[in-house]
Amino acid sequence: MSETQKTATLTIDGATYDLPVYSPTSGPDVLDIRKLYGQAGVFTYDPGFTSTASCESTITYIDGEEGILTHRGYPIGDLAGKSHYLEVCYLLLYGALPTAAELEDFESTITRHTMLHEQMVNFFRGFRRDAHPMAIMVGVVGAMSAFYHDSTDINDPRQREIASHRLIAKMPTIAAMAYKYTIGQPFVSPRNDLDYASNFLRMCFAVPAEDYEVNPILSRAMDRIFTLHADHEQNASTSTVRLASSSGANPFACIAAGIACLWGPAHGGANQACLEMLKEIGSVDRIPEYIARAKDKNDPFRLMGFGHRVYKNMDPRATVMKESADEVLELLGVEDNPLLQVAKELEHIALNDPYFKDKKLFPNVDFYSGIILEAMGFPTSMFTPIFALSRTVGWISQWKEQLSDPAHKIGRPRQLYLGEDVRSYADIENR
Ligand code: SDX
Repeated sequence: MSETQKTATLTIDGATYDLPVYSPTSGPDVLDIRKLYGQAGVFTYDPGFTSTASCESTITYIDGEEGILTHRGYPIGDLAGKSHYLEVCYLLLYGALPTAAELEDFESTITRHTMLHEQMVNFFRGFRRDAHPMAIMVGVVGAMSAFYHDSTDINDPRQREIASHRLIAKMPTIAAMAYKYTIGQPFVSPRNDLDYASNFLRMCFAVPAEDYEVNPILSRAMDRIFTLHADHEQNASTSTVRLASSSGANPFACIAAGIACLWGPAHGGANQACLEMLKEIGSVDRIPEYIARAKDKNDPFRLMGFGHRVYKNMDPRATVMKESADEVLELLGVEDNPLLQVAKELEHIALNDPYFKDKKLFPNVDFYSGIILEAMGFPTSMFTPIFALSRTVGWISQWKEQLSDPAHKIGRPRQLYLGEDVRSYADIENR
């Protein structure tokens, strides 16, 4: 943490306390309250931590008002348009864009770590065929710590790097195997002559009975989906990974915790929930009924794929994703897809409805990614596993950043206790 001359003064019951104020490269200043409890005997109160900086970071920056997202300073629109996922992985992990030689070496390393320990196949067989692929991913990724003992020592930088490479490389294989298992088809092994996105598509859609040619437009769209989901500051699942890591848990356990948190429909599960909502709406003429429900405070229904904890204008990822959606749907000749018609009309209505405009509810990244994945032939149950696959590099980069801070400690939030005061135990005959 940089030293600072700026302070904020807090007055409590006539006593004043000076709090250091730090200024970031971009974004709001932060008040350092670490000594407040020791000095003033008070906690701060921020359920959901939405006004709290949990760490220092140099990886990703979001400006929710301006709709800005950068990774190591590079705007997401540039990365989605000019870079590709493994290059973005290198940027997130190491902080700079790679030279041609560095990129070649990194891509070769990742490509040669895509296979899973053969004995791990047995884990898949323990699940019911109708298990949700996210349940399988949580289980199998957690179990990786039982197979890759030579990369679980978090105090060894080289083991941290090997674990990072293994996770980035093996997540597509695990996700594809989870999909194949649930549809009863044989697993398809990764190939070293395919790029990352093409390998994933082939592992998902190839069958032994015929050759599978990856369509370059689909693999480009797949790679772009990976890039747009790679990292996103201190969101719920990333914060989960950081908190798990703060106890010294091994990298595979930390990423399994992140996958579990991402599964929720308010977070990474929104892309699946969004498509299921579009299917439930079913036709354009039923949209007003659902818009009314979304506005009704007594109705828990939310427009899935709309709104964001941070973005209060367009999610910059949704803008790029929308371009990909048009490309893929045109390629597949499904621009007349009834679901897409409902999605486009819903977007138009929501963007022009005063309720949504006042509450700044815009389509987020999940709104369009679900439409693309549906058009590609993925079942909705595979949408969040693909999000988890993409976000692994973000989780592991944040995990590495936290471990590289020698001052980091175990996370331990406090509370505002409103329960019973101390009272005597009453024997059961006296209750
Ligand atoms: C992701 O944090 C990240 O960075 C997450 C993520 C990432 O990359 O890691 O970006 C990925 O999780 C994207 C978000 C995916 N979730 C969904 O699409 C689910 C639908 N969206 C909502 O559940 C909601 O918008 C949240 C959870 C995303 C945000 O909820 P908040 O923080 O309550 O939103 P808010 O405070 O801005 O809400 C303002 C108002 C509230 O009403 P009031 O209390 O002011 O009366 O808008 C309402 C909310 O009730 N509202 C919605 C709504 N989202 C918010 N009303 C209807 N439909 C919605 N989708």
